[in-house]
Amino acid sequence: MNQDVLKVLFNEKEIKDKVKELGKKISDDYKDKDLVLITVLKGAVIFLSDLMREIDVHCDIDFMVVSSYGSGTKTSGVVKIKKDVDVNIEGRDIVIIEDILDSGMTLQYIMGILQSRNPNSIEVCTLLNKPARREVDMSIKYNGFTIPDEFVVGYGLDYSEKYRNLPYIGVLKPEIYT
Ligand code: IMP
Ligand code: MG
Repeated sequence: MNQDVLKVLFNEKEIKDKVKELGKKISDDYKDKDLVLITVLKGAVIFLSDLMREIDVHCDIDFMVVSSYGSGTKTSGVVKIKKDVDVNIEGRDIVIIEDILDSGMTLQYIMGILQSRNPNSIEVCTLLNKPARREVDMSIKYNGFTIPDEFVVGYGLDYSEKYRNLPYIGVLKPEIYT
């Protein structure tokens, strides 16, 4: 598995420090709010599980499953909800937890759906951000690392469902997916 990685972008310590920093910011901002962390499966689960333990105010968690990618490395533009959240989000303060923001199409779609249910507020927390590939305009309140346009795996991120269990984030060797 490790031999398929071209280079390590962020090691375990760097990720841990960043997650701590994001958790502190969210804790400060949501002291008197009704926080719900909504996570898009599966890529962001590891991030969520670390992040929520760095948040020291009450929060609910819930999950959505959407399909935007086939098995490759490019977005198909088609987003479908396969599992919706169970909680009623009306009047509550939502933070969507994402692993990586690429074209932004998946997130824009999810935000539209959640917005229509009248939450009090809705913000985005993404661990990784690839602004070079953005196709839709959106504001990101909590941004972990900004990365170049390279395909990355590890810490929850996959290529064809593999590599999610790498404890670091690395660039996949192009020959693996070309
Ligand atoms: P978007 O709709 O193009 O923003 O797609 C976002 C989703 O694409 C993420 O939640 C990931 O599942 C996937 N994705 C985008 N870039 C990468 C990458 O570099 N590695 C692994 N998955 C990626
Ligand atoms: Mg994903």
